[in-house]
This record gives sequence, C-alpha cells and structure tokens, in this order.
Amino acid sequence: MQRIEKTEKVMPLKDAYKGKFLIGTILGVAALQGKVQQDTELATTHFTAITPENSLKPEAVQPREGEFRFAEGDKLVEICKSCGASAIGHTLLWHAQTARWMFEGQDGKPLTREVALTRMRTHIGTVVGHYKGKIKQWDVVNEAINDGPGILRPSPWLKAIGDDFIAEAFRVAHQADPKATLIYNDYNIELGYKRPKAVELLNKLLTQKVPVHAVGIQCHWRMDNPNFAEVEDAIKEYAALGLKVMITELDLGVLPTKYQGADIGFRQTMTPEQQAVMNGYTSGLPDSVAQAHAERYRQAFELFLRHQKTIGRVTFWGTHDGSSWLDNFPIRGRTDYPLLFDRQGKTKPAFFAVQNAAKKRG
Ligand code: GLA
Repeated sequence: MQRIEKTEKVMPLKDAYKGKFLIGTILGVAALQGKVQQDTELATTHFTAITPENSLKPEAVQPREGEFRFAEGDKLVEICKSCGASAIGHTLLWHAQTARWMFEGQDGKPLTREVALTRMRTHIGTVVGHYKGKIKQWDVVNEAINDGPGILRPSPWLKAIGDDFIAEAFRVAHQADPKATLIYNDYNIELGYKRPKAVELLNKLLTQKVPVHAVGIQCHWRMDNPNFAEVEDAIKEYAALGLKVMITELDLGVLPTKYQGADIGFRQTMTPEQQAVMNGYTSGLPDSVAQAHAERYRQAFELFLRHQKTIGRVTFWGTHDGSSWLDNFPIRGRTDYPLLFDRQGKTKPAFFAVQNAAKKRG
C-alpha cells in the first residue's frame, strides 16, 4: 500500500459545513488499533462525525455469548472527543457480520422467540448502555427490508422473533440511552422499488410510538445511478413522516459493476479482457473522469444542502480511495476512486466540489 503523505493545508471540510449538517467519515479496525495514523488525521481534520467501519458490528462486539469487546469503540469515542466530533454507533442488529452463536438455538434446536429476544435485549442494552451519553446516534437496525417480495427480509431475527423484532430493538436502545438518536438504516431506500416498503415500515413504527428518530439512507452510489430527482423525492417523503434523514454511507464509485450484462462473481478472478473493461484505471484516474466525478458530488451536495433542515448528517464510507470497500466489491482486487481524497490522502476535484457547494450556499 502506498504511504499517505501528511494532510494538506486546505480549509477543513468541517469549517465549510459548520451550522449546516454533520459531515462524517469512518475509521476502520486498523485505524482504531492505532496502526494507520493518516486515516485518523484525515478524519479528525475534516470531519464532525466518525462511524467505526466494523468495530461496533455484532460479531466484533460480542463474538461469543457474554464476551463484549469495547476497546476499538472506546478508542473511537476518545478520538472523537479529541477533535470535537460526534461518535456514531453502527450497528446493533443486522443479519450479516453477526457471530453464528447468536442465531443458533439451544442443543441444535431452532432459535426460539424467547431466547432470540433475550439475546437481542442483552446485546443492545449492554452496548448502548456502555456508550450512554458518549455515542449520540445509533444505527439500531440495519438492512431489514427485503429486496424481493414482501416488506421484511427473511433474516434470522425475523424468523425467530417475528415482525415486532424491529420495534423491540428500538425500545431496548431507547431505554438504555433515552437521549440517543435512533436510526433505521438501509440501502436503496431512496429508490422507487424499495422506498414504499421503507415508508410503510417506518409509518407503522411511528404509529406504534416506537422511538425511531431518523432514517439512514446508505447511498452507495455510482456515476450513472441513481437519478437525483428520485433521491430528492425520497428525502421529502421521509421528512413528511417527521423523521430526520441521515446519509450514512455515501460513496460514488467510478468503475462499472456489470460485465456485458453479466455479473463477475465476487470470488472470480477477472480475465485480462474483463480487467480492461472492469478495472480500467489501475494507473490513475483520467482528469476527465475526476471532473465528472466532482460534478456528480456537486449535484449530490447541492441537493443535500437544499434539505439541510431535514438532513442531520452526511457520512462518507471511507476516508480516502485506498481504504474503500469498493476496491473489493462487487468484484475483488480493483482500483476504484469513490471518495474525496486520493490514495496519498490528497484532495481530489470532488473535495473542492463538496466544499464549494457549502461555501456557495453561505
Ligand atoms: C453495508 C453496511 C456497512 C458496510 C457496507 C460495505 O452498507 O451497512 O457496514 O459493511 O455494507 O462494507
């Protein structure tokens, strides 16, 4: 991996976004273990909110029943305190990145509602309780909506507990820290196929007086989608429910995701022909693409700024291009350029597009 040079002397992004909404980034496990200083430097210089990329996911916090690990989360809180940023909790309940024991019934039997509820309450209560007053926003439930038929994903939580697992999760989190902002977080809920499901789910929770305060739209976007008019409609619809909107995992990948209509599998090694099409910028991003990328970020942030009364936070999923998950998803081993800082930690045209959008707004 290339070494990142010292942070440039530019106006910090957080100065441009002061009084508008929190502007956030993430820190990976290595950064929270103190192994990559440069990521932390970018995070503390430019951002007012920091989410741990993996360290507070269920499998990281409770790998074995009753064994809670808080070292990296505690480090996050300490880093945030040192620079005045808000620490963001991600995530309490999810079907992925959860240790297998949590979904296994006793003696090989299916997981019962009672056992599942107890595990859920213990997990959420302990984690939110540990960070009471220190972590002010939590992604309580992640990705519970189904991409296919029906509203809810057939996750182990749904199967064991039933429809009310989401309401229960929020109630436990609220009890553990009544002041924390509680978020329902998901991907593609800004898009037409999934938005009505999210609206129905959130509406139902609000009608039942479940303490859900905000909806988190992940926003893993590309150059050619989504259409921003569709995103704007979604933000308005969520605002009309009385919810805050958090943009929780923003990135804007420049590489194609499909090869001539077909997907290249995550575990597949690309042929040289596929490499040429699907991983075209291994020796650097052409300026024309960097400019188009900046332009798309400008449009995105002008949209967010138009809705700054609704939007509480915009978080990027990565500090710089070299630390993005998109280098390995949906295809392994690529060189993508989704963020505001390059692999050396230097500002890209997209950085100035995002900064200027706020300055222009005044
Ligand atoms: C989802 C999760 C994140 C992260 C990303 C990509 O969006 O919410 O925690 O895992 O996928 O890595």
